[in-house]
Amino acid sequence: MSWVYRNLIRPALFSQTAEDAHNRAMKSLAWVANHPFACDALGSFFAAPALPVDLFGLRFPNPVGLAAGMDKSADAVPAWAALGFGFNELGGVTWHPQPGNPSPRMFRAVADEAIVNRMGFNNPGAEAIAIKLQDWRARGLWPQHPVGINLGKSKITPLENAAEDYANSFRTLRDLVDFFVINVSSPNTPGLRQLQDRAALDEILVAIQEQQNTTAPPTGSSDSTRHGKPILVKVAPDLTFNALDEIIELAGVRHLAGIVATNTTINRPDTIDPDTRRVYSEAGGLSGRPLRDRSTEVIRHLHRQSRGKLPIIGVGGIFNANDAWEKLSAGASLIQVYTGLVYEGPGVAQDIVTGLLEKLGEEGILTLTEMVGVSQKNAVGF
Ligand SMILES: Cc1cc2nc3c(=O)[nH]c(=O)nc-3n(C[C@H](O)[C@H](O)[C@H](O)COP(=O)(O)O)c2cc1C
Repeated sequence: MSWVYRNLIRPALFSQTAEDAHNRAMKSLAWVANHPFACDALGSFFAAPALPVDLFGLRFPNPVGLAAGMDKSADAVPAWAALGFGFNELGGVTWHPQPGNPSPRMFRAVADEAIVNRMGFNNPGAEAIAIKLQDWRARGLWPQHPVGINLGKSKITPLENAAEDYANSFRTLRDLVDFFVINVSSPNTPGLRQLQDRAALDEILVAIQEQQNTTAPPTGSSDSTRHGKPILVKVAPDLTFNALDEIIELAGVRHLAGIVATNTTINRPDTIDPDTRRVYSEAGGLSGRPLRDRSTEVIRHLHRQSRGKLPIIGVGGIFNANDAWEKLSAGASLIQVYTGLVYEGPGVAQDIVTGLLEKLGEEGILTLTEMVGVSQKNAVGF
């Protein structure tokens, strides 16, 4: 299938602008998602073998998830399980509906297997997303795997009111999905990444914790926050190790379920290819192959500094099982794919899970959990 995708389907998609191709693919997937027979047919081609992971109270049928930004409007919720993904992260969703930045705002750098985007959180807003999610559930089309929501800040909300903006979205969507990712790392909303600073992030986390379901704290516990939905924070690959350490510290204080590492980068690699150079001169975040090593470096640092105690979802430049293996052995417990899906096609999750199972067999490792962070276990004396 990957041959068919690379040689027949991808050239047709890549003859259109990146955003037109994305919209066309999403329209087809939304149609499939709304027709159970079509979803089953898709599943019969692309279902991934079982490789379960238990993490933050959830069972993931396999560790390969869909990264945020692909299904921003929750248009194709059941289709991602049919494509073999072990979980999906919808959004970024903001409290206020917003159109995002003007087009063009998504660019392919094909020679580097990369994308530059400055979408700017185009989405219908938290209340509209809640209605869509309720509809998928009411029609019995909710997928079997965990579903998360990526939360962003509305562009019209000033930075000083960010906490309230995130908390409003969280409250509206809280009971409809399994976990939340607080996105303070997109380069495409002015000032957003300043919210990674300790004080600003703390304010957001406190505001969200206040909206957790506090109806059933255990007897004798003054801390109800651990009993709500798992909350993760998504970080930028451009943060310094010191800044990452502050987030790890805050994660402990605020009982974060984990970290998603990483978002896109504002840095650009050197290139002599004129087409790639043109794409890299566009403002926005870079994803795909050129992001892979920095993302792995960030994961390795987070895992080491937290002494393996803080679960990490690794994302950035994963295209195949080798890339996924590298992220897991650096310390990720789960991984996600966006750009890899664009370049490798709809079989990417199945291929990665199959490849991971083969590698586990070759290494004589029985469960995936055993090999998380394996590349540095000796180094830090876990
Ligand atoms: C077009 C596009 C839109 C994205 N939108 C979001 C988003 O809304 N929220 C978010 O946290 N990350 C977003 N991302 C970042 C991805 O989730 C992911 O972190 C990043 O692309 C690195 O993974 P990759 O190399 O597999 O693409 C977006 C990425 C792309 C390419």
